[in-house]
Amino acid sequence: DKGGHKHFMAKEIAEQPSVIADALGHYLTDAGRDIRLPEDGIDFKSLDRIVMVACGTAYYACLTAKYWFEQLAGLPVEVDIASEFRYREPPVPERTAALFVSQSGETADTLAALRYCEGKAARILSVVNVPESSIARESDLALPILAGTEIGVASTKAFTCQLTVLLLLALKAAHQRGRIDNDALADKLSQLRALPTALNTALEMNETFRRSAQRLSEADNALFLGRGLMYPLALEGALKLKEISYIHAEAYASGELKHGPIALIDKKMPVIVMAPRDALFDKTVSNMQEVMARGGKVILITDPEGARAADDGVWQCLIMPEIDAVLTPILYALPAQMLAYHTAVAKGTDVDQPRNLAKSVTVE
Ligand code: F6R
Repeated sequence: DKGGHKHFMAKEIAEQPSVIADALGHYLTDAGRDIRLPEDGIDFKSLDRIVMVACGTAYYACLTAKYWFEQLAGLPVEVDIASEFRYREPPVPERTAALFVSQSGETADTLAALRYCEGKAARILSVVNVPESSIARESDLALPILAGTEIGVASTKAFTCQLTVLLLLALKAAHQRGRIDNDALADKLSQLRALPTALNTALEMNETFRRSAQRLSEADNALFLGRGLMYPLALEGALKLKEISYIHAEAYASGELKHGPIALIDKKMPVIVMAPRDALFDKTVSNMQEVMARGGKVILITDPEGARAADDGVWQCLIMPEIDAVLTPILYALPAQMLAYHTAVAKGTDVDQPRNLAKSVTVE
């Protein structure tokens, strides 16, 4: 049942405010000032590092979480693609927790990476959507993301629910490790509770995304740029676009632009720049100006203040509601998904069942 939507993907994008609210309801204490983990919980003070392993979109959720764990909790994180990790057979130092992120909980490479860590990692954790899956069953502690069944092959609501749970873990770690006090934790959690409202506001921009995508659908290639928390999201935006619209898309950390990809910029190249007005905004804007000076067509995804500061010469500007900087990856996932979705619809591709792809990759 597509609930009145043309595609499961559209339905699942639209469900994000409510499933994220569900996940928050599950993990927050009644007063909403603390994070509730299962019985034996996680002792983040006893850890020196976390290694996170996943594939595809779940891997980009891990890359985002690395910024959160390192910046909020001062806890070093290594992130790896499961198919690389499992065959490289890296050392797993003492006091390292291994964390596996998977929507299906059945991805063959991720499961093999988990089994490799058995008897090596101090703790095996997983963040999964299917609680009875192999990855959940074989972990010491499995944390559900509560996204509900995801049918569209391109992951949308599972990604933002993965991000939500990973952010809760990073905040829990920051609190346990004395990086934030009770009030600071409560404040972040209250900002998080406002996220579904911000996502609803962004969903109301559907027609703006559709018009933007109409123009994007004429391109053969696209480049996504972001810095900091927006870099993993740029990777996710490029993956969404290529898997459902078949437009070749690549993502770079903005600072890498002049180390190669700037050679690609010409009048035909749309460049999607993801830049809320955060500490790195001015740096990203100067990269954006380098793109525009070479004729590149910029689609800027930013907030009202960012739009006022950088709108000049931009091809299209998509203005998201103002939100705490820590939460921007979850909110800005929505325009990335919407652009990919409407581009695919404009091109007439099979949105829910893109060619050559399977929802669950249970063979390597
Ligand atoms: C992309 C997508 C895939 C999955 C990847 C991992 O939209 O859905 O990249 O994220 O195959 O799948 P899970 O999360 O089930 O391990």
